[in-house]
Amino acid sequence: MHISTSVLGGIAAICATANGALTRVNDFGTNPTNLQMNIYVPSKVAAKPAIILGLHYCGGSGEAYSSSTKYNSLADQKGFINIFPSTKKDNNCWEVNTVKGLSHDAGGDNQGLVAMINYTIKKYNADPTKVFVTGSSSGCMMTNVMIATYPEVFAAATCYSGVAAGCLAGSPGASPSSANPDCANGKVIKTQAQWVDQVKAMYPGYSGSYPRIMTYHGTADNVVFIPNLGEQLKEWSGIHGVSFTKNVTNTPQSGYTELVYGDGTKVLGVSAAGVGHTVPVHESEDLKWFGL
Ligand SMILES: *[C@@H]1O[C@H](CO)[C@@H](O)[C@H](O)[C@H]1NC(C)=O
Ligand SMILES: *[C@@H]1O[C@H](CO)[C@@H](O)[C@H](O)[C@H]1NC(C)=O
Repeated sequence: MHISTSVLGGIAAICATANGALTRVNDFGTNPTNLQMNIYVPSKVAAKPAIILGLHYCGGSGEAYSSSTKYNSLADQKGFINIFPSTKKDNNCWEVNTVKGLSHDAGGDNQGLVAMINYTIKKYNADPTKVFVTGSSSGCMMTNVMIATYPEVFAAATCYSGVAAGCLAGSPGASPSSANPDCANGKVIKTQAQWVDQVKAMYPGYSGSYPRIMTYHGTADNVVFIPNLGEQLKEWSGIHGVSFTKNVTNTPQSGYTELVYGDGTKVLGVSAAGVGHTVPVHESEDLKWFGL
């Protein structure tokens, strides 16, 4: 049976390709804004798997975000589960502007996303202490909102080219065509105390800890301008009670600078020199930040 290895290898490769597809889940629980849930469960799922929630950009979908990133092939290696939801409203942008969308359990997109996580924890015996969120552009804006409104659900977050939680509060929409442009243009500048108060007001009475966050932004972004990196860092360093420590240049790659807050384990910014919208997803850096 000298040929068996290569034949089996070929079959495994075909299976791996088939496994790359997402599965639609219909009845996952509370779904006040009619989101679509798509899940990727690797064939060798870990005993108590971690969960990554991956949030698409405006105009995108869960399918598009999963196929443009490497999280599914990394799940094949490491055994975690990915959820790639889709929103179909407001040019497929996430609800990061309304009062309900910026509140805990008030009927926004955020509540439906947490229901997907709850479903996954129950169905696959996933580890509730290893739930992570990431996203690009609108998905990064929503990542900020998820950790502000559901801090108890997530252990850590990473995201690419977004804005601080609450930056679009009160805007008529969240898409480039419906939103008040001031936020994306980098004109919504607040003090650290104002951002902290705003985050705390999204979940009044919550006194637990908040997720760790690593957030990337390109200096040449002309869709969501670079001041939004500084505002996110002001917000989350205020929440975590850490201040700027140092810059580490050419990390995690040439031309990128890591802005380290405190000891660098709670809040980390990455400024990507000359990079536009959006910063390419750095999946293996995400996994390091998540501890996966
Ligand atoms: C998620 O699960 C928690 C813990 O069981 C529960 O308190 C919460 O209401 C659930 N949230 C949603 C949106 O399903
Ligand atoms: C750290 O890096 C950022 C982004 O390049 C820059 O704006 C900032 O001035 C730097 N801070 C220090 C203290 O070097």
